[in-house]
Amino acid sequence: MVKLGVNIDHVATVREARKGREPDPVWAAAVCELAGADIITVHLREDRRHVNDRDLRLLKETVSTKLNLEMADTPEIVAIALEVRPEQVTLVPEKREEVTTEGGLDVRGNLKSLSAAAGKFREAGILVSYFIDPDFDQLAAARDAGADFVELHTGSYATAAVEAEVEAELSKLLAGAEKGAELGLRINAGHGLNYLNVRPVLALAGLEELHIGHSIVSRAVFSGLDRAVREMLSLLH
Ligand code: PXP
Repeated sequence: MVKLGVNIDHVATVREARKGREPDPVWAAAVCELAGADIITVHLREDRRHVNDRDLRLLKETVSTKLNLEMADTPEIVAIALEVRPEQVTLVPEKREEVTTEGGLDVRGNLKSLSAAAGKFREAGILVSYFIDPDFDQLAAARDAGADFVELHTGSYATAAVEAEVEAELSKLLAGAEKGAELGLRINAGHGLNYLNVRPVLALAGLEELHIGHSIVSRAVFSGLDRAVREMLSLLH
């Protein structure tokens, strides 16, 4: 059965809107686990725009399923990851000005640095995943760079506007998953998945983990808003 990794970054985004204490992503992780989530995923960004170092350290102490850290291959973040030791790291490209991760990692172009980082992680017993587009050369490079997993970037599939484009993007993902499995890689997928587009992705060969964030946190606003208003009203009246 495919495992669900819930990315809780955007719980922290709401907290950072006020630079206060709530909502606490550490508390969110516990709720996700109680609901059956298999993995808790966070992205510690260079600019700490949502999840911060305190969150990561507490999550390492409190998450009882699997903690997956999305991160850029920079000396600062690699050092933090090696110190905190999440069960898994997913290497992603990162640009300061982007709203969210844009495109997959260029593993081929950064083979030396990524291989060196992967070697350190593997030595520390941390699983290594690379977030890549379903491109055959990037898949081969991921294998060369010591990957346990690849996370296939579903963003182009998720944002495809017309049916033919959706089908074309899905075909690339299906082919990528097959190629990855052939290369001995374990297969994850994620980015932009929601309640309407997730099911076709389940057809990916050997798919182990889906990492989904924004759509789950967005839905939580609406599945919880009614109750939150009623609770405030019960205090007032
Ligand atoms: N996987 C990776 C590698 C990501 O960078 C992100 C976004 O942080 C996700 C999955 C989750 O994407 P979304 O929030 O669109 O579900």
